[in-house]
Amino acid sequence: MTPLHPDSVRGAPEISGDRVAAAGADLLTAADFRRAAEPLVDAAVWDFIEGGAEDERTLAANVAAFERVRLRPRVLVDVSACDTAVELFGARFATPLGIAPTAYQRLIHPDGEVATARGAGAAGALFVVGMLATRTIEDIAAAATAGLWLQVYWLRHRDIMAALVARAERAGYGALVVTVDVPRMGRRWRDMRNGFTIGGDVAAVNLDPALMAAAHRHDAGRSAIAEHTARTFDAAVTWSDLAWLRERTAMPLVLKGILTAEDATLAVAHGVDGVVVSNHGGRQLDGAVASLDALAEVVDAVGGACPVLFDGGVRRGSDALTALALGARAVLLGRPPLWGLAVGGAGGVAGVLATMTAELEHAMALAGRPTLASIDRTVVAGGKGPTGGTAAGASPPTRLGGFEKLGLEGFEGFEGFENSEGDA
Ligand code: FNR
Repeated sequence: MTPLHPDSVRGAPEISGDRVAAAGADLLTAADFRRAAEPLVDAAVWDFIEGGAEDERTLAANVAAFERVRLRPRVLVDVSACDTAVELFGARFATPLGIAPTAYQRLIHPDGEVATARGAGAAGALFVVGMLATRTIEDIAAAATAGLWLQVYWLRHRDIMAALVARAERAGYGALVVTVDVPRMGRRWRDMRNGFTIGGDVAAVNLDPALMAAAHRHDAGRSAIAEHTARTFDAAVTWSDLAWLRERTAMPLVLKGILTAEDATLAVAHGVDGVVVSNHGGRQLDGAVASLDALAEVVDAVGGACPVLFDGGVRRGSDALTALALGARAVLLGRPPLWGLAVGGAGGVAGVLATMTAELEHAMALAGRPTLASIDRTVVAGGKGPTGGTAAGASPPTRLGGFEKLGLEGFEGFEGFENSEGDA
């Protein structure tokens, strides 16, 4: 492997794909990308990415919940071709793995969200762009070749929020994700100890600089982003306010941060178009239930009224298979694409998505579930699904021929990867 050099990766966006290719043999899993990313990222930024709230119990629980799961493979099913494609609000994606919204991506790579959009596009994956993106939502849209959604926090300045939503609609974003688990920011000891602030020329450029000023103020012992959140996010917003947002956009409305049957029922009653089961990657209420442990409860309460998406702790393809089995329509990744972004810009993001999608496709084959429709709760031991899984009756899928299926052929940086097809 060619050693990764921090300066060259962080300073030269266009080399990134080659660098991923050069490191390909050592980047076989999301965990490999994480190991490669850590030395490339400023220590306080690494803490911002990796950290959770308080004692990080929920952060750990998200990952631990998947470690407990065991799968129930079915045999003598035709898995000569497995299909990972999924449709969300009328848009087709090559993979049910998408990118969760994460703020301030230029802290990690000079191209920021534009690189992430290119990587997502190369993998045919959904990218949920954060309100606190460091590139304009229009520039990100111009770089995208797969569907984008926009995530927003509920701002006290509703006029600013409404203006951003209107811009996103004009730029062709496919859905609006309202993050509802941040009435205030979780206490993140790492960021507070680091006096974490958004430095350099990195900024949430889609919002008024005056609104964002607090995010850039350094104060020992305090997190500048927590300060900013306290000043600008509306902690008084309730279910009835959703109607205000609904009146302002024709985009499907998705609530991110649902963890209980009670709130899932309210979400459906308020006519939302989708929910994301999420505890914000363990960054909000420490001690909150692991995302995976909340999934079936939410899916049951929603009862098919709208798609349920999932995020939190997904680190390998079989984790995604588990979440799909428990009823998620799609699975979002928070930290893993950021590891890819640090390692190799667009090529790294695409690499993480392709790696994990290839793992999912492999797990589907070995579990005897060749289509997403054939994945039900009977995949999970103790998943209490309906008996008689649907695998045998699945419609014939198209062949997933490795990265070609993901549209990665010809994409810089993929010469170094091989998928597992043909493995004995
Ligand atoms: C986040 N997350 C997040 N969520 C959101 O709705 N808006 C945001 O701006 C951010 N920002 C953000 C920054 C960073 C560095 C991280 C790690 C996370 C939460 C994110 O969307 C998602 O819910 C979790 O990251 C999913 O968990 P995993 O995949 O990281 O375990």
